[in-house]
Amino acid sequence: MTSASQKINVVILAAGMGKRMRSDLPKVLHPLAGKPLVSHVLDTARGLTPATICVIYGHGGEQVPDRLAAPDVCFARQEPQLGTGHAVQQAIPFLNDALPTLILAGDVPLTRLSSLKALVDAAADSRFGILTVNLGDPTGYGRIVREAGQIRKIVEHKDATPEQRALSEVNTGIMVMPTVKLKQWLASLSNSNAQGEYYLTDVVANAVADGIEIVSAQPEAEWETMGVNSKTQLAALERLYQDNQAEILLEQGVTLYDPKRIDIRGDLHCGRDVSIDVGCIFEGRVTLDDGVQIGAYCVIRDAHIGKNASIKAYSHLDGSIVGSACQIGPYARLRPGTTLAADVHIGNFVEVKNSQIAAASKANHLAYLGDSTIGARVNIGAGTITCNYDGVNKFRTVIEDDAFIGSDSQLIAPVTVGQGATLGAGTSLSKDAPAGQLTVSRARQTSIAGWQRPVRKS
Ligand code: UD1
Ligand code: MG
Repeated sequence: MTSASQKINVVILAAGMGKRMRSDLPKVLHPLAGKPLVSHVLDTARGLTPATICVIYGHGGEQVPDRLAAPDVCFARQEPQLGTGHAVQQAIPFLNDALPTLILAGDVPLTRLSSLKALVDAAADSRFGILTVNLGDPTGYGRIVREAGQIRKIVEHKDATPEQRALSEVNTGIMVMPTVKLKQWLASLSNSNAQGEYYLTDVVANAVADGIEIVSAQPEAEWETMGVNSKTQLAALERLYQDNQAEILLEQGVTLYDPKRIDIRGDLHCGRDVSIDVGCIFEGRVTLDDGVQIGAYCVIRDAHIGKNASIKAYSHLDGSIVGSACQIGPYARLRPGTTLAADVHIGNFVEVKNSQIAAASKANHLAYLGDSTIGARVNIGAGTITCNYDGVNKFRTVIEDDAFIGSDSQLIAPVTVGQGATLGAGTSLSKDAPAGQLTVSRARQTSIAGWQRPVRKS
């Protein structure tokens, strides 16, 4: 008995050009939830721990192998593209004869691992397995032709008789079969059909002639078998995927102000009592700890947000760690390398990059803090800028605990503001500011009594 945990060969068909996408990018590289279509297929296939994964590419040159290159993937070029059977032929040198071969389509991104496992299990080592589905509108698909309940062949829509076109059970394009047999069958394919192509689906009739038992499995959901041929279908699948993600979050107890208005392009992990307002986009790996609140229209990528922190509307976070109870935004920008301890406040139009800020410090308005190390309970006044870049090199600014930086100060790095130091407003700091003292660099203010404005002579 084969079980899904035993190894198989996987072939992913991704050579077609996808004419209806009207794009220079190969169809299978178009993103769904921020990830190329074919990468969804690849990642699901990896769940089977296959011995081989062979991607067939062709249209778009080396873009597909360049994008997917990984130690566990091999690539076979199909040029020209003469049909799905011809595509699988290109994989032959990579297939291990002792293991069955599972064939997947690079443009059918949402098939679940459980459906693939069910098919692989049903076929075991010696049977031929086809993932089929019954569709209300089967137009365009290959029809499954059965006799006395047994699958006899697959007829492509364009080659089908009116009676065959009335059949609602279709080929999803996902099949598994013994590899030695597959190789023999592929060698005998012909292209005398309506499309002049070498059809993979013709091997079903070969299997019947060879007395190989043919079994089928059905996915739990019809959308698992939906393919992408146009931007309209891509958009529809994207919404379907996002609806599914939103549903999972709701089931986990996350409050979504509108489950139709959230986009997750990666992995979003949420604790208890998290709430997310409308229009937010999550990319990469994002973790929201218990009690986190995300305001409207935030874009958050590769970030960890600590317990009870609040990210207010229109904030943009990337590559950042936010401590518990922090208050961020509205309109804040945290760039990669930002680490905020507990209770930090970053307000509107404040940009932080590659900086560590210790607990209870505040930068509430209009500031740039780059390449800086900031202590606890520091107050950064409005308009403060770390001048970290001389056009070639980056330098660090260090601000120690309890310092107070007056508004509109420039800290010309490398520079250190000592513990408890105060900078007067408008200071251009080019030398270290001693701890506990007031440092002011601006010119002293003077007023000139009796001064007259110039008057225009007529
Ligand atoms: C195929 C099946 C059809 C099934 C349908 C499900 C065949 C002959 N037909 O039809 O029974 O119902 O999928 O979606 O197999 N490709 C290559 N090289 C080629 C041709 C195609 O790599 O020369 C790739 C495409 O990039 C795509 C996949 O194979 O990923 C399927 O090809 P496509 O042309 O979309 O086949 P369908 O006509 O949809
Ligand atoms: Mg197709």
